Amino acid sequence: MSTGAFRVIEGGRTSDPTPGLLVVGASEVVTMAGGVRRGSGQADVGRLETDDPGGPDAAAVAVWEGRILAVGPRAAVEATLERDGHQLGRFARLDAAGGSVTPGLIDAHTHLLFAGTREGELVARQRGASYLEILAAGGGILSTVAATREASEAMLLAHGRRWLDEMLTHGVTTIEAKSGYGLDLETELRLIEVAYRLGLEGPIDVLPTWLGAHAVPPEFRARPDGTEAFVRSLIEDQLPGIAAHGRARFADAFCETGVFSADQSRRVLGAAAALGLVPRLHADELAPSGGAELAAELGAASADHLASPSDAGIAALAAAAEAGTPVVATLLPVTTWFLMKDHHAPARRLIDAGVPVAIGTDFNPGTSPTANLPLAMSMACINLRMTPDEVLAAVTINAARALTIEDETGSLEPGKVADLVIWRAPTSAQIPYWPGADLVRRVIKRGRIVHERT
Ligand code: NIG
Ligand code: FE
Repeated sequence: MSTGAFRVIEGGRTSDPTPGLLVVGASEVVTMAGGVRRGSGQADVGRLETDDPGGPDAAAVAVWEGRILAVGPRAAVEATLERDGHQLGRFARLDAAGGSVTPGLIDAHTHLLFAGTREGELVARQRGASYLEILAAGGGILSTVAATREASEAMLLAHGRRWLDEMLTHGVTTIEAKSGYGLDLETELRLIEVAYRLGLEGPIDVLPTWLGAHAVPPEFRARPDGTEAFVRSLIEDQLPGIAAHGRARFADAFCETGVFSADQSRRVLGAAAALGLVPRLHADELAPSGGAELAAELGAASADHLASPSDAGIAALAAAAEAGTPVVATLLPVTTWFLMKDHHAPARRLIDAGVPVAIGTDFNPGTSPTANLPLAMSMACINLRMTPDEVLAAVTINAARALTIEDETGSLEPGKVADLVIWRAPTSAQIPYWPGADLVRRVIKRGRIVHERT
């Protein structure tokens, strides 16, 4: 059940909600305080734990008007509130019932909006067809483009609401949403506008990305210079309209041998950056393609997939992190699993090299038809060999950094937006341990209970 309005669970009166909330009774509060995580710090989650969730030393989170006021032992938090002139009676007490409390999860890579489904490709892959072969034959992304161009704004809004609602049940409070299934200005604008409006509607924040360079559309494929002509058209015809629309925050490109080269991706993202769109990149998903190197060169917010980066690419990302301008490696382990690969992103090498790692779902109809970010967390543990703590940092503060919103969200620290999850598990280590489970008890977004398991 999702409730748009704040509802007092204990204390206070349901008809007269207070602007304050005090989350108590947690077996642990994982704060993730202290900024982006990398290297050995990726596993440092800021865990405040107790054997006695009802006791005065158990960690509590105080929220006022949608922002976090204080985090720490309950007795100390209450003393701080009183010292600062707050009346404790104006804080509704929310009992975590011995569960873990974490920051709201952030999915930094989704293709939220599309029409149609592609279950037939799963069978084609079982029979040996590769992802790029299916695309070259006019299927894959192109079949979703055909369906999406036909979809009305109302259909896309309904689809978006359906999947955002599911994301919420998995503890997700912020997502990125890419366009890329229009490949013409009119449809790309529709996708970006719908993503933006869904974010306004809430409760999940939705940050739109223009993924104009996702594939070469049919109208350009017939031409011998199709890819080049499309790249020029992206820069000259599409980008000005996208920038003038003003809704997309990021620009992305599918930088992959056989799709868009590093040089073509550089031109698109460079032109987009000049108009204020922050670059991010589908980099080296299937083969080393210069994507990681390009992401470092551009100072991208994020280099995504990285299932097959080159040694030079990893070194370039490591150098960027060392220089204090990290490019987050946003790894998407469901995708390699769903594509039946036995080769996954080298998460351990990236972490050892000091590159901050985030994990996302890559929710899309072709390579990752799941909106379940905790499932992606399980896959990160199993196939990428990341520890549960590293993975939690990857879906909170590092994912926030991948979306350039780490000053606002991603951790439970005074001043930040009060986005948090109360889990039906005593430790966050159980989130990836129960793959696919429904473990969320309550989701709080900007200080309001927006989902609760009844
Ligand atoms: O991240 N690789 C490119 N884009 C998506 C897949 C899109 C699709 O197949 O529809 C991805 O895997
Ligand atoms: Fe993707």
